[in-house]
Amino acid sequence: MKVTVVGAGAVGASCAEYIAIKNFASEVVLLDIKEGYAEGKAMDLMQTASLNGFDTKITGITNDYSKTANSDVCIITSGIPRKPGMTREELIGINAGIVKNVSSSLIAHSPNTIMIVVSNPMDTMAYLVHKSTSLPKHKIIGMGGALDSARFKYRLAEALEGPISDVDGMVIGGHSDTGMIPLTRLATRNGVPVSQFLSEDRLNTVKEDTKVGGATLTKLLGTSAWYAPGAAVSSMVQAIACDQKKMFPCSVMLQGEYGLNDICLGVPVILGKNGIEKIVNIELNQAEKDNMISSAEAVKSVNDLLEL
Ligand code: 2OP
Repeated sequence: MKVTVVGAGAVGASCAEYIAIKNFASEVVLLDIKEGYAEGKAMDLMQTASLNGFDTKITGITNDYSKTANSDVCIITSGIPRKPGMTREELIGINAGIVKNVSSSLIAHSPNTIMIVVSNPMDTMAYLVHKSTSLPKHKIIGMGGALDSARFKYRLAEALEGPISDVDGMVIGGHSDTGMIPLTRLATRNGVPVSQFLSEDRLNTVKEDTKVGGATLTKLLGTSAWYAPGAAVSSMVQAIACDQKKMFPCSVMLQGEYGLNDICLGVPVILGKNGIEKIVNIELNQAEKDNMISSAEAVKSVNDLLEL
């Protein structure tokens, strides 16, 4: 399995690191436009191989897409990250041009690749890749829900004062401060609904803390987070590489599912060797359906800013 990560910034390097450490890929190519930067990150990471016990070969490349040829999975992290106080949507002007160029350069050398879009505003960037390339829809996957769900589980475990490994839960909807829908109704502690342990008020706090998970970190770090985004991407790539048929909420093109059309939005999907093997239709209650509609409207208004 050959994986290309475009963008050797904190998120891209963290993707490369976690993919390598999990040892399921033979090769990771890290590509950046900044001369020598990806080469430096790749060399630094390779010098952890004997310490961390992985055999994945990591190569750094400055802007030469021919070196990414025949990648099974390509990950786009390039573009500018948000600064404190900014929304992900404010990045659209710069990042749309970058994502469009990067995706077409990748596909020119890896026409059969599966593409994971991380750059923000992610739901709109995934939509842009759908509209500007000829990749089939099951091969374009926006990464947001896997990360947001990990942040949800962190907040749930904190509220439950228990280990994260006891907690299960999922965030669907848009990857934005207002568009995320943490599904508290379906979240469990070892199979028991969390509502049996936490008051409605406490669950609402968990929900709100989850939705601003990225913004909270951006404020603390001065730029957007990288460890959890990298770990989320690596879990998705592993599900594809190992044909795990694992369920993740991902931003995928909806054509009627959840009553939505012509939009990329976070819904549960099964990830396996073909990319999106299936979109899973879960029964939402009325409040959750209403939230999906407003989340979709917000994403659509950002999509309308694209020059397609
Ligand atoms: C985040 O939420 C990078 O959008 C990503 O941290």
